[in-house]
Amino acid sequence: MRTKIGIIGGSGIYQMAGLQDQEWVTVESPWGKPSDELLTGRMDGVEMVFLPRHGRGHVYSPTSVPYRANIDALKRLGVTDIISVSACGSFRAEMAPGDFVIVDQFIDRTFAREKSFFGTGCVAHVSVAHPTCPRLSDACFSAGQDAGITVHRGGTYLAMEGPQFSSQAESKMYRAWGCDVIGMTNMPEAKLAREAEICYASVAMVTDYDSWHPDHGAVDVTEVIATLQGNGNKAQDMISRLPALLGPDRAPCPHGCDRALENAIMTAPDK
Ligand code: ADE
Repeated sequence: MRTKIGIIGGSGIYQMAGLQDQEWVTVESPWGKPSDELLTGRMDGVEMVFLPRHGRGHVYSPTSVPYRANIDALKRLGVTDIISVSACGSFRAEMAPGDFVIVDQFIDRTFAREKSFFGTGCVAHVSVAHPTCPRLSDACFSAGQDAGITVHRGGTYLAMEGPQFSSQAESKMYRAWGCDVIGMTNMPEAKLAREAEICYASVAMVTDYDSWHPDHGAVDVTEVIATLQGNGNKAQDMISRLPALLGPDRAPCPHGCDRALENAIMTAPDK
């Protein structure tokens, strides 16, 4: 099987440098319109697709991002591996602004989003005990290190609804729960990728210390954007190293991400 890497770009990432034969394509989905057209191309002989999560110009809020249409559009284009890139706040002094965290667990506190492709007619319950793909996460970790980025392997991401940032009491509570970072977009994206049987890894770029840190003020968008801009091309540099690490040919996922529905469907086959 051929590798096809899908990059979902978060705040501050609306295009992808270094992609050969670039073409923006429209993809129709029964789940609605994706956030934008999708940019297809190749890097180091590996097929790639890029989708700006919030749309070019940042027009979808975390709540209004069409997560189901986005994952479905990537699936329809044949994407085998999704790398989610997003900004996040940090609950750990050692996960500093500018660092990258390869997230491996989530606490989902979102409540105003469609979270499944399954419902009436076909009922399925996939496992998200291990919601990210270790093989793909390892590749992101190596790519980040090769790019000279301070990158942390593993971390728990609190997915909040937003769009407001957390109160200080919430921030301290999430920290006490053992969360490492906080963001507004990785859920239900990771769950939907699992339902779509696509490997998923999350690269969270720390932009701030949320509102718990005694030496830092409350987070605001100016701080988030300033940190993203200050860290300029780090994410692009990391991404550009992934095709060579993953290679054009792909074996079945050793962790079974690509077979997630095998033991998940409840509805009788004749229904
Ligand atoms: N994205 C970037 N920083 C964040 C924060 N502190 N909380 C939620 N989402 C964020």
